[in-house]
Formats: sequence, C-alpha cells, structure tokens
Amino acid sequence: MIANLTFIGAGNMASSLIGGLLAKGYPADRITATDAQPETLERIKNALYINTTTDNLEAVNNANAVILAVKPQSMKAVALELAPALQKRKPLVISIAAGINLSSLEKWLGSGLAIVRCMPNTPALIQQGATGLFANKNTSEADKTLAQNILEAVGLALWLDTENQLDAVTALSGSGPAYFFLMIEAMEQAGIKLGLNEKTARQLTLQTALGAAAMAQGSSDTPEELRKKVTSPGGTTEQAIHSFQQSKFNLIVQTAVEAANARSIGLSSELGE
Ligand SMILES: NC(=O)c1ccc[n+]([C@@H]2O[C@H](COP(=O)([O-])OP(=O)(O)OC[C@H]3O[C@@H](n4cnc5c(N)ncnc54)[C@H](OP(=O)(O)O)[C@@H]3O)[C@@H](O)[C@H]2O)c1
Repeated sequence: MIANLTFIGAGNMASSLIGGLLAKGYPADRITATDAQPETLERIKNALYINTTTDNLEAVNNANAVILAVKPQSMKAVALELAPALQKRKPLVISIAAGINLSSLEKWLGSGLAIVRCMPNTPALIQQGATGLFANKNTSEADKTLAQNILEAVGLALWLDTENQLDAVTALSGSGPAYFFLMIEAMEQAGIKLGLNEKTARQLTLQTALGAAAMAQGSSDTPEELRKKVTSPGGTTEQAIHSFQQSKFNLIVQTAVEAANARSIGLSSELGE
C-alpha cells in the first residue's frame, strides 16, 4: 500500500524530504503539504505538483503519516491544533523538530499515538543527508519501515537505541556539516596564504574533502588506518599531522561536539514546556 503523507510546514526540510521522495518515484498525488504562507505553498505546488492547503486539519484527514516540519517554537501550537484529528484517525506522526521530546509531543498530542522523532541534516537538500531516528513504544514495525523509507529518500537513516542519543546525533551530524565547512574554509585560507588563488584553493580543498569521504566510505580500512597509510615517515603529511596533534586537534573536536550536545540538551528543556 502506498501511504498518504502529509507535511505540516513546507519549509526547507519538508521541501527536501518531498523532493527526495518524488525523485525516488513516490507518487505526487499521495503527498500533501500545508504551510502558514500561501506563497510558500504556491511555490512548492508549482515545483513539485503535490497537494497543498493552508488548512492543517483538512490535510491530516486522509493521512497515513503526518510529518511535523514546523520550527520547534511553533510545534506546541501545531500539535495542540492537530491533537483531536490525530486522536480520531491515529496516523503515524513523525517529528523532525530539533529539541522537542517525545514526552512533550505525547503531552500535546495525547496518548496512544505512534510517534517517531528524528534529526536530519541540511545535506538532505541534495539527498545526501544523515538522520537519526527514535520511535516511541506505540510504533509498529510497519510504522518504523514507513518512517525509515521517508528519511532514506534523502540519505542515510539510522535507528537509535535511546531518545537521548538524538542530542548526540544533533551534535554530530545535525550540526556537523558546519564543522566540515569550517575545515574547508580553514584549508582554503591556508592554500591562499601559500600562494594559490582563491578559486584553485577552493576547488582543490572541496575535491579533497569529497575524495577523502568517498574513499573512507568505500574502504574496509578505518579512517585511522587510511590516515596512517598516506602518512609516509619523514613526508609532508606527517609534518601536518604532527602539527595538528601538537595543537590537540582531537580534543578541540571533542570539546566542540560536547558543547553542541550540551546546547541540544538545554534547548530540549527550554522548548519542552
Ligand atoms: N534545516 C535544518 O537543517 C534542519 C535540520 C534538522 C531538523 N530541522 C527541523 O526541521 C524543522 C523545519 O525546519 P526548516 O528549516 O524547514 O524551517 P522553515 O523553512 O522555517 O519551515 C517551516 C515552515 O512551517 C511554516 N509554519 C509555521 N507555523 C505553521 C503552522 N501552524 N502550520 C503550517 N505551517 C506552519 C513556516 O511558516 P512561517 O515562516 O510563516 O513561520 C515555514 O514555512 C524544524 O523543526 C527544525 O528543527 C531542520
């Protein structure tokens, strides 16, 4: 059976998910999106040919899965508005909102619903996303498969053992694209300082990042083993790695990811009630 999917909020993340689903052959007439902005809906309808409406209640009427894709700050109002309709039909609910716990969603939506919380990241925009998912106890295997299929339309989707791990996912892959952008920026600047022009420095850095990630993904060696293989004794790479290690590179990264994790935990308690 092809499920009817309703997206509440048709912004960046919802558009990426819908775009990914359509690219994988999901029928457009089985997808409905709502938004507070009629212009946003007009844009998405013209680009993706899905059903659109500004009426959230009408949109969930026929849904097998409802994807809550509004900003975390809007989530409570949206959940309270949808609660009676969702309780009547009990579709699968998927929340992509950062920092909104299952306990808050269960409080606002009422008990007994199957709810999956997940944390995608921005490369979902180009179907290269990475998502962590966690389901509440009401979620059946069929619901989990549906949630996984939706998130896999835009990249990797991995189930987590505990809800708390979503904070770690937020800190690692949720915020992670920015860490790599920072590294790319720094390498590009270093290349320019050594005499390359900006375009050349950027192209070389980006291709190196892409090549290294693809190599690591396709290899049975660990990243550490791959690093050691390209680090010849007395060579140039060894000098750079030694310099990174002297500056405590791993500790810098660990501290940064822990700061993001702490902020994610803080946001959850701020946004919960
Ligand atoms: N972007 C990311 O990298 C990322 C990563 C992981 C998770 N997420 C999560 O994804 C969610 C959406 O993020 P986004 O970047 O896609 O945000 P966004 O572009 O702002 O999209 C949210 C859309 O929902 C609309 N909206 C607000 N209230 C609504 C309501 N009551 N009914 C229907 N639509 C409503 C908003 O309209 P207005 O503009 O008028 O408010 C906006 O168009 C967030 O909860 C975020 O935490 C995002």
